[in-house]
Amino acid sequence: MQGSANLNLMIKAARKAGRALVKDFREVENLQASMKGPGDFVSRADLAAEKILHDELMGGRPTYGWHAEEGGTTPGEDPTRRWIVDPLDGTSNFLHGLPHWGISIALEHKREIVAAVVYDPAKDEMFVAEKGQGAWMNDQRIRVSGRRVLIECLFATGIPFGGERNLPEALQDLARLMPACAGVRRWGAAALDLAYVASGRFDGYWERGLHVWDMAAGLLLVREAGGFAEPIRADDDILVCGNLIAANSAVFPGFAKVIRTP
Ligand code: IPD
Repeated sequence: MQGSANLNLMIKAARKAGRALVKDFREVENLQASMKGPGDFVSRADLAAEKILHDELMGGRPTYGWHAEEGGTTPGEDPTRRWIVDPLDGTSNFLHGLPHWGISIALEHKREIVAAVVYDPAKDEMFVAEKGQGAWMNDQRIRVSGRRVLIECLFATGIPFGGERNLPEALQDLARLMPACAGVRRWGAAALDLAYVASGRFDGYWERGLHVWDMAAGLLLVREAGGFAEPIRADDDILVCGNLIAANSAVFPGFAKVIRTP
């Protein structure tokens, strides 16, 4: 794919942060058996990856705004464009030595996501999309799955943990959906869940209570791969509400009906 200068900058930044995270991940695997565990180490790895991304992206486009999981928000001289970044999506997986985590970078222009990178460094899978240009994984065009019947579909979701408030809704969603589909996975990295919908590995995905940096890049991947990504309540603003449903276009209506039924 012939990406724009912005997309190339995003890919370069993701690769650089990815190399640092892979090194740290090997260390995390060694720390599992220690008394203290790898918690503090992982927080430092997360911050270090965000710094690399910040230096690369803001170094390349100093007038853009910045909105990231660890470093908060800095408005840019150009109020119409901002980077939306999660340096380490799937932090719990990383912490436990599970090789399923990623870097998510989105470029927003006038409240719309126009370029997206979701990079899985452990598997060296680089998912990219630009508005109107399609979606790609490691230079191969990707598309959402072709399944049309709910009972044959494999879905992904996120189930709230700790003190999060959405647990009852998530359990009700599962109770309605599970008898109607082929299975539900909870893999622990929302950006990769969306990238997997875009590449047809999952037929759909939904989650409540997401942050914008978890989903901004992934939702463009799904749309550019021919799928739908919408807020769970149709009239919400998808980048604000944090409740997302995504699927291939054939199965979306039936899937959305199950998830949207109170
Ligand atoms: C989390 C992961 C997880 C999802 C949570 C997210 P983080 O992101 O994407 O799958 O269920 O809602 O917050 O904290 O690992 O960047």
